[in-house]
Amino acid sequence: MLEELNQIEQAALASLDTAQDEAALQRWKVAHLGRSSPLMLTFDKLGSLAKEERPAIGRRANQVKQALEAAFAAHSAALEQAAITRALGAERLDVTLPGRPVLLGRLHPTNCTLRRIYAIFAEMGFQVYRSREVETDEYNFQLLNFPPHHPAREMQDSYYIDSGTARGDNPLLLRTHTSPGQIHAMRQMVALNPQDPPPVRIILPGMCFRYEQITARSEMQFNQVEGLAVGKDITFGDLKGTLSDFARRLFGQQVRSRFRASHFPFTEPSAEMDIECFVCGGAGCPVCKRTGWLEILGCGMVHPIVLRNGGYDPLRYTGYAFGMGPERITMLLHRIEDIRYFWANDLRFLEQF
Ligand code: PHE
Repeated sequence: MLEELNQIEQAALASLDTAQDEAALQRWKVAHLGRSSPLMLTFDKLGSLAKEERPAIGRRANQVKQALEAAFAAHSAALEQAAITRALGAERLDVTLPGRPVLLGRLHPTNCTLRRIYAIFAEMGFQVYRSREVETDEYNFQLLNFPPHHPAREMQDSYYIDSGTARGDNPLLLRTHTSPGQIHAMRQMVALNPQDPPPVRIILPGMCFRYEQITARSEMQFNQVEGLAVGKDITFGDLKGTLSDFARRLFGQQVRSRFRASHFPFTEPSAEMDIECFVCGGAGCPVCKRTGWLEILGCGMVHPIVLRNGGYDPLRYTGYAFGMGPERITMLLHRIEDIRYFWANDLRFLEQF
């Protein structure tokens, strides 16, 4: 009987190693510790044994039972631990793997050009002055020497805002150019020191709006960068020198420029500035329409009436102003043929910059 218990124990322990998952483990438990297992049947047989044999056999049977239960618990824990180790190995976070790329946006081509323009003028001592996009007729036209009904207004067809008749001959409109900012800036400076207002050296960037037929060359919404310098003894020479140097810094040191007489109501004299075509070097090509020159901005000496409207005495102060279109300049820099791309929101266009 004792020999039999030894064999039961050895056979059970030996087969435990082959149980490699939870289901096999449960089958082992039923086979070796279950109600009809050889060990449990031994307990049943105890009653039929001789009285003096019973204690030794019973003690041994209990030892075997405890040994099998302990082995079962240990094996079960080992299986569980192995499963955890396996899962950790398979699902391990590999911090050396490349991350998922984050798609970065980029600057709109007009903003790239604007930033280059700001940087160049910053080096020359010009500050950025931002001004409103919704203006009054007074600021957009009248104070800039466009009287009501003056034909010069024809150059800038406007989006008026319907404010009824309440505003009389001073209706609201979307600004047609950045020039009204000249008056705002001058008046702000004059408020600082009305007797002897400080000099002004600013650029005024921002969106402008005109009621235009949209074509490859004109949009109803575009940026401008205005420039304004007001002070004592400022001459047309300062205007030419500053703008020629600006063109060299933007388009390249060798670029030549020229000034053609023109007309704006708020400057006198007025000029249009051209740079030598950097595509053909002045020989004539489709980009410059065979003229050898590219128009890049309008400019002039601030009109005495405009200085006075800004609060500066035109007998003591002079100044110059200029206005350029950064979309147009971007088109020249990158040979873009159609201005409508700037607002079309087509990634195939925008991702090229
Ligand atoms: N405001 C003018 C325009 O939009 C440009 C300009 C600005 C011309 C300043 C001269 C001086 O056409």
